[in-house]
Amino acid sequence: MIDVFPEAATIEDGELLLGGVSAEALAAEHGTPLVVYCEATLRRRARALAAAVDGGRVFYGVKAFANVALLRLLREEGIGADVASEGELAFARAAGLGAEELVVHGNAKDERFLAAAAAAGSPVVLDAPDEAPLAAEAGVRQTLVRVTLGVDADTHEAIRTGHHGSKFGLPPDRALTLLADALAAGIDVLGLHVHVGSQMADFDAQEETIRRLAAFAGRCRAELGWVARVADLGGGFGIRHHPNDRVTDAVQLATAAAVTARASFAQAGLAEPEVWLEPGRSLVGPAGVTLYRVVSVKRLPGRTWVAIDGGMSDNPRPQLYDARYTALSALRADAPADEVVSVAGMHCESGDVLIDDVALPGARRGDLLAVPATGAYTLAMASNYNGVGRPAAVLVRDGAVTAIRRRETVDDLLALEA
Ligand code: LLP
Repeated sequence: MIDVFPEAATIEDGELLLGGVSAEALAAEHGTPLVVYCEATLRRRARALAAAVDGGRVFYGVKAFANVALLRLLREEGIGADVASEGELAFARAAGLGAEELVVHGNAKDERFLAAAAAAGSPVVLDAPDEAPLAAEAGVRQTLVRVTLGVDADTHEAIRTGHHGSKFGLPPDRALTLLADALAAGIDVLGLHVHVGSQMADFDAQEETIRRLAAFAGRCRAELGWVARVADLGGGFGIRHHPNDRVTDAVQLATAAAVTARASFAQAGLAEPEVWLEPGRSLVGPAGVTLYRVVSVKRLPGRTWVAIDGGMSDNPRPQLYDARYTALSALRADAPADEVVSVAGMHCESGDVLIDDVALPGARRGDLLAVPATGAYTLAMASNYNGVGRPAAVLVRDGAVTAIRRRETVDDLLALEA
């Protein structure tokens, strides 16, 4: 089970250490729930993904977790940012990312966001039929066009994006019109964008999409005389959340995407494009571990509930996507896990179950649970349900701990009240 933990996770004297720091020390100092990021894992994944595009560019999908310290760290490894709101753009700017290091997304960009994107000087991915003149008016100079090529990704339906009828991008005929409008408005269109879906376990859907993308790029050249210089293939590479998950490694998927894009364009008689990727989950997900304190244990006939001090307010993914996680008893990490339990959140509804079944050593109040592969789309989607403040996050490396986001307090929440 330790193989879904970040690389700097170890067990010493029965206790889980993250980046050389004991889980209990982290929990005692920073409270729980606490999201702990392993710097070694972040840097290794960033370097490997940056190398996979071989001269192309990698933009971190900031939606996975908007955090200035993480953005800075990834930037040191040559990674830019894909931002999909004014807020995400502000996080990236605060981390020092410049025009060239950003790509701006959104299926519903209002004038204000377009103006902010124009001020940042970054390429904007056109997504809506009337967006070309609006972008030109806002002062946007570089764009891409997002096309939806009708491929169903094998993933939860809420995170499929490339299918027919998707709310994202436009189908080929309409995308061609959008491209023509952008050219007519005098905007430089660098290339085409696709994003097939998220948490994809294999290359099938992306491979088919890339082939269709090359064919569409051929059509753009034939009908409009326009040549795509960039192929932005989006993100979507899956990660393992649970020891039983079978997922092809993200670096392999990214490499395959870049190689296939260049080959498919060449086969279509087109110049090899510069490949851009926008991984979110695969960069930060495996680096994060969430620590929870066990608050109560109920042994009922047929089911044992282990209730923790967090739940759907810090990780709504089990409710939204039927996501399956595992947990390790951080203080008794090498004791026999001989009791199968359900891990319940602290929120006022029966659906607030973080893990349906996991084997733990006889759980008791005060235990610490460590849930791996929780670095993406957890804090990013956290809420204040039940008046709970969102958790803190820290970065660990070689025994050193850096706070990268403070815990929200009840006073923070009360400060919003009129
Ligand atoms: N680029 C675009 C245009 C996207 O829409 C997304 C994710 C990404 C890149 C990054 O995808 P990633 O590599 O992280 O899969 N909340 C959901 C995931 C939603 C993904 C939305 N778009 C979850 O928790 O599974």
